[in-house]
Amino acid sequence: MEKWRAADRLLKFSSRFASAVNWNNSCKSKQGKYFYSVATTVHRNPLFSIISPDDISYFKTLLGERGVVQDALALDAANTDWMGKYRGSSKLLLQPKNTEEVSQILKYCNSRCLAVVPQGGNTGLVGGSVPVFDEVIINVGLMRNILSFDKVIVSGVLVCEAGCILENLISFLDDEGFIMPLDLGAKGSCQIGGNVSTNAGGLRLLRYGSLHGSVLGLEAVLANGTVLDMLGTLRKDNTGYDLKHLFIGSEGSLGIVTKVSILTPPKLSSVNIAFLACEDYTSCQKLLLEAKKKLGGILSAFEFLDSDAMSLVSSTTFLGTENHGQEVIKDKHGQDFTSIDLRALPLEFWYSYASGSIFMENLEAFLLHSVESGLVANGVLAQDINQASSFWHIREGLPEALMKAGAVYKYDLSLPLEKMYDLVEEMRVQIGPAAKVVAYGHLGDGNLHLNISAPAYDDNILAKIEPFVYEWTSKNRGSISAEHGLGLMKAAKIHYSKSPETVRLMIDFDYCVFELLPDTSCLDDNHSIICLCLSA
Ligand code: MLT
Ligand code: ZN
Repeated sequence: MEKWRAADRLLKFSSRFASAVNWNNSCKSKQGKYFYSVATTVHRNPLFSIISPDDISYFKTLLGERGVVQDALALDAANTDWMGKYRGSSKLLLQPKNTEEVSQILKYCNSRCLAVVPQGGNTGLVGGSVPVFDEVIINVGLMRNILSFDKVIVSGVLVCEAGCILENLISFLDDEGFIMPLDLGAKGSCQIGGNVSTNAGGLRLLRYGSLHGSVLGLEAVLANGTVLDMLGTLRKDNTGYDLKHLFIGSEGSLGIVTKVSILTPPKLSSVNIAFLACEDYTSCQKLLLEAKKKLGGILSAFEFLDSDAMSLVSSTTFLGTENHGQEVIKDKHGQDFTSIDLRALPLEFWYSYASGSIFMENLEAFLLHSVESGLVANGVLAQDINQASSFWHIREGLPEALMKAGAVYKYDLSLPLEKMYDLVEEMRVQIGPAAKVVAYGHLGDGNLHLNISAPAYDDNILAKIEPFVYEWTSKNRGSISAEHGLGLMKAAKIHYSKSPETVRLMIDFDYCVFELLPDTSCLDDNHSIICLCLSA
């Protein structure tokens, strides 16, 4: 009985729990699905039920016709991830309007042994937000109300539903004189529930820290339908374990986040941004250290892209027709830098962004010093908000530019700063001319986005990348997932970044949440990982 219950819990919440994830490269079954990664040949577990007409009737009674989507076009979009790399075959998309409906859906699916996958804006990059097989998709996009904003008592606490689109929250707060502590390229589509579930990092983490710091409370629904109200708005609350933290970044494995309370900082009085060319990665790294020393807490973001990233983005992204910068920096010989048209930026350089509530004079002084010391070879300072957004357009255009260029293998790694670019160079040697290695990332957070761009997905290329990239990261005590999550792509790779004891504790906790005694037959090396195959 206990064994069934344990398996039952693992099976029902998400197919990722239940699918026999087969990370033996050579063992690909005909029924299995292959997702461009040596780790992710997965098999549908036959213990899952198949959706029946009675199930559909139940959901229609619960959610109304509008909340039950069976239309082929809508299902196709919900089955496919943003990169078009992961594709499920779900026949049912449910759109609850409130927490109670999420709870009823999960309770029902649990009783019927129907696999589910929670979905937000479907902007994930690791195959965590789409079905693998025929799971029921639960999309919280209709839960998009802002519930309260307190700018008086505890300054800047926003409480909202999980389906709120990040960009809408950013504009709402802008009108109130506040900002979201989180900003990322996918802001136009991604939802706050998904951001929290994946512990999204983005462009402002350097200054405002991770969501573990700014999320004050959460509401979440467990697989059996239990609603956990942890929606506090207090800055301090030491009454027992702070369980919300387990939901931040757990990618839907413990429950579906339905509401979020988040601390938002006041809007900055001035924001300036510099887009700087360095001769090599070492200069970018030194520039960051200098910027931290000289500009300290007023620095909001420090991003970087290498010369291959710059060539790629300038070949595929519209960079404008006018000059976007102004001559403000003088070179070593006292010559003014030419006013730079972004289209004419030299492609052989590594670029860094320094942005924050930095007064122009401070920024100019810092840059002049950086030029004199040889760290910066060239650069532009945005003179207004339009120029600033043109600069960000380049950085934020990179993921799309890579998609346009063909197949892309994406790796999101935390690494010690001084080693970070060694991996990029070693990867270039490892891959040879078959593919392009493009690097960019959140340098200020020690987060490298390593992308291998090829004309098409190719097992020979993949075999050169994996497990090399994971072993390298592990050897240097980095993380194989800095901010994108594990998803289907890396669920079985957790051991590269977490010790067996840590993984074991996660599994034990997982059992605790569902009030199950550990079933030891599920805790061998392979199955223990299955418990952590998550969805977001
Ligand atoms: C970014 O920083 O642009 C995102 O994390 C997406 C990506 O890595 O491509
Ligand atoms: Zn990123």
